[in-house]
Amino acid sequence: MLPDAFVTTIRSVFGADGERWLADFPSILDEAVRRWGLSDIQPVENLSYNFVAFADSKVSRLWMQNQEILHSGQVVLKIGVPHRELFSEIAALRYFDGDGVVRMLDSDPGKGLILLERISPGLMLATVMDDDRRTQIAAEVMTRLWEKSKTTKVVTTKFIQLSDWFDGLKGLRPHFGGGTGPFPVKLVERVEAVLPGLMSAPEVLLHGDFHHFNILSHGEGWLVIDPKGVIGPRGYESGPLLLNPWDQVKGPDARRMTQRRLAILSERTGLERGVLREWAVCHAVLSAWWSLDENDKGLEYALQCAEAFAGIEV
Ligand SMILES: Nc1ncnc2c1ncn2[C@@H]1O[C@H](COP(=O)(O)OP(=O)(O)O)[C@@H](O)[C@H]1O
Ligand SMILES: [Mg+2]
Repeated sequence: MLPDAFVTTIRSVFGADGERWLADFPSILDEAVRRWGLSDIQPVENLSYNFVAFADSKVSRLWMQNQEILHSGQVVLKIGVPHRELFSEIAALRYFDGDGVVRMLDSDPGKGLILLERISPGLMLATVMDDDRRTQIAAEVMTRLWEKSKTTKVVTTKFIQLSDWFDGLKGLRPHFGGGTGPFPVKLVERVEAVLPGLMSAPEVLLHGDFHHFNILSHGEGWLVIDPKGVIGPRGYESGPLLLNPWDQVKGPDARRMTQRRLAILSERTGLERGVLREWAVCHAVLSAWWSLDENDKGLEYALQCAEAFAGIEV
């Protein structure tokens, strides 16, 4: 029942672990169905790295953080290959505990199972056409998440460290034999120059993949899904947003649009425009680096965004 494109992604990203997971998938799904009394399972259309499906849950009692809660009705089942990113996601869902983020009803990290409340109507922020409006909404959701770190200490070691992601980027020059390959050398030098300063800012628990497809309408408000759970400075959070909606930040308008976005984000978050711009450049280069083995289109898109961001005057 799994779509071919999804199976191909799982194989290429997770290798032998992915192969084993695909073979075990029917029994993992069975386990979820029995445990949570699931029926009418409908996979979402845009499967990427995890199996995600809408379902009905007939179970009325669930355990969450040692508390028994009552629940039945529409849920979302997420099944992923058990690995560091999924453990970090589960830890982040638990940490945010429904505050600005979708509520997790139950999970089993070892089996890669997550049960979430279904967000309704659940329209993605990408469906809002007014870019100023959606940037304001994103800024509000973002700052609400960071508030949590003020009141709740971040203790678990399960979270991803932003410094680990950027340490990965140090492999760029060795990878290209001392050069920078398709990466414009000026961009690489800029990241190397600004990153230590950016990283020295105070850290909070970030969502880590904050963009228009992970923010969903919930009644009159908005909730974010799919947190990566990343510890790092707040300025990084705008990085993925400024690259999105994917493939739409390009052409003659890209710079002007991003300039407006930086003004809105700066006003709402209190972070300087120049700082947000540098984070945008750094994240775009990181994103291009991640795309290197996967596809040329992602690499090209992220690099042209990085160039556009780098040229913005604040
Ligand atoms: N709790 C939820 N309520 C409604 N829709 C959801 C929910 N969780 C996920 N979705 C839908 O499923 C899609 C994929 O979920 P997501 O958690 O982002 O998976 P992935 O980690 O593979 O990106 C989302 O873009 C959204 O459309
Ligand atoms: Mg997602």
